[in-house]
Amino acid sequence: MQVLNFGSMNIDTVFSVSHAASAGESLSVPDPEIHAGGKGLNQSIAAARAGAEVFHAGRVGGDGAFLLDLLRCNGIDVSCVVPDSSLRSGGAIIQVEPEGRNTMLIYGGANRRLDEGQIGSTLSRFGSGDILMLQNETNLTQTILCRAAEKGMYTIYNPSPITTEIFTMPYERVDLLIVNEDEAAALAGGSFVPQETLLRLHQLCPNTIVFTLGQRGSCAFFRDETYFQEIFPVNAVDTTGAGDTFAGYIAAALARGEDLPAALRTASAASAIAVTKHGAAVSIPTLSEVEAFLKSRNAQAASRHVPHAGS
Ligand code: RIB
Repeated sequence: MQVLNFGSMNIDTVFSVSHAASAGESLSVPDPEIHAGGKGLNQSIAAARAGAEVFHAGRVGGDGAFLLDLLRCNGIDVSCVVPDSSLRSGGAIIQVEPEGRNTMLIYGGANRRLDEGQIGSTLSRFGSGDILMLQNETNLTQTILCRAAEKGMYTIYNPSPITTEIFTMPYERVDLLIVNEDEAAALAGGSFVPQETLLRLHQLCPNTIVFTLGQRGSCAFFRDETYFQEIFPVNAVDTTGAGDTFAGYIAAALARGEDLPAALRTASAASAIAVTKHGAAVSIPTLSEVEAFLKSRNAQAASRHVPHAGS
């Protein structure tokens, strides 16, 4: 089963700050670090490091050759990426606080210049049973999702970051929705109240939903059952890309036929390792690192199955 990720590739300019600058405040900071990033690129790298056969599709500007090199170095097929030297690549300005929390400005650049021709020619190479991964940093996400679903691809959508576009997606065509608390609350139209938000989201997306709940772990809701996975406690230095690591690991686990509870456990361990390192793509562990970590943390991070009333 192949994984096609139609997603963003960003140049991340990362500032280490004592606290995120607020309105009207000027902060003097050390020189920034430049990293490869973008939710799409990070998720592709995570899926590839987790062992999946990954194809990345998207658009990159004249300044983005190193983004393609990094994808290639991770064994990812980039023949569906269109390089356009007349454009600037997408990017993010990221402030990282000492305890790892981040604040971002994201600009779309080449990521938002996808066109119907590229979507048609890319999807013609994939078919029923292949996996499509999609986030919300490119244009034409609705077109990509619908065309992939029509072909019988298994669709995974991560509505991140939150923009008005996420409210008009045809969620009935999403096979697996991966959301954090803010995304879940936005889609459910209120603040995050676990059971209530879950039920509202399930009305919107009747298939599988995975929630990432920060310090409270993650949970999967499918076939009227809920599975919880606690976090693996670590010292976080930078949470950038942790959600992408999680999503890529989930996709790879499903591609190799693992069930969702097992996928949640591997993905939680992978994102726990990622937050102990700086940067987004560079912090994503390989499957063997994750397996070694899981062995060393065997007794930690319980998972539990909660059958629903009446089931
Ligand atoms: O999820 C982390 C990513 O979000 C960063 O790499 C940044 O580029 C933004 O897309």
